[in-house]
Amino acid sequence: MIDPRQRTSRPRAMIACALVAVLAVAALGVAEAQQNRAAQQIKYRQAAYTVLGTQFGIMGAMAQGRAPWDAKAFATAAERAAFIATVVPDTFPAGSESGAPTKAKPEIWRNEAEIGRMMTDLQSKTAALATAAKGGNVDAAKAALGAAGQTCKACHDKYKLD
Ligand code: HEC
Repeated sequence: MIDPRQRTSRPRAMIACALVAVLAVAALGVAEAQQNRAAQQIKYRQAAYTVLGTQFGIMGAMAQGRAPWDAKAFATAAERAAFIATVVPDTFPAGSESGAPTKAKPEIWRNEAEIGRMMTDLQSKTAALATAAKGGNVDAAKAALGAAGQTCKACHDKYKLD
């Protein structure tokens, strides 16, 4: 004899099982989407810094005599650096601390005030660099490059993994 309760409980158990399976798959999907999103944000951050670093590489080579001085190319690089400096503060959204290889230290997300000051410093020094570069005085441009470079170092020393 089949217990009538069993007849109803078996389909119910099956439905419950199926529901758990569907929810588990959905949760996996959400976790994966979040991971993809974080990986995308980290890639964006590193790309922005790569563009910034490339401009400094171009200017640094001229300042150190490894490349011939080209006032126009220097001024273009300075202007691009100043522009990218307005982008980088937006590349640290919450949730982008992990999810792909990153050299950003987790302390960044706990010290927003100091990071904000460092970003402001980066922006004002790269803006001053762009102005100096346009002025055409080589020594002034080199000095402004050094000052702007200090803002990179200050943050890297404290908040970037080697
Ligand atoms: C307020 C902090 C801060 C400032 C200012 C800053 N950086 Fe960085 N930089 C970082 C962090 C954090 C990373 C690591 C990013 C990651 O791996 O997710 C980084 C990474 C980089 C990278 C490596 C990008 C890659 O390929 O992964 C370069 C190049 C770079 N920075 C150049 C510069 C230059 C040049 C300046 C100054 C003009 C500068 N940064 C200013 C925090 C800063």
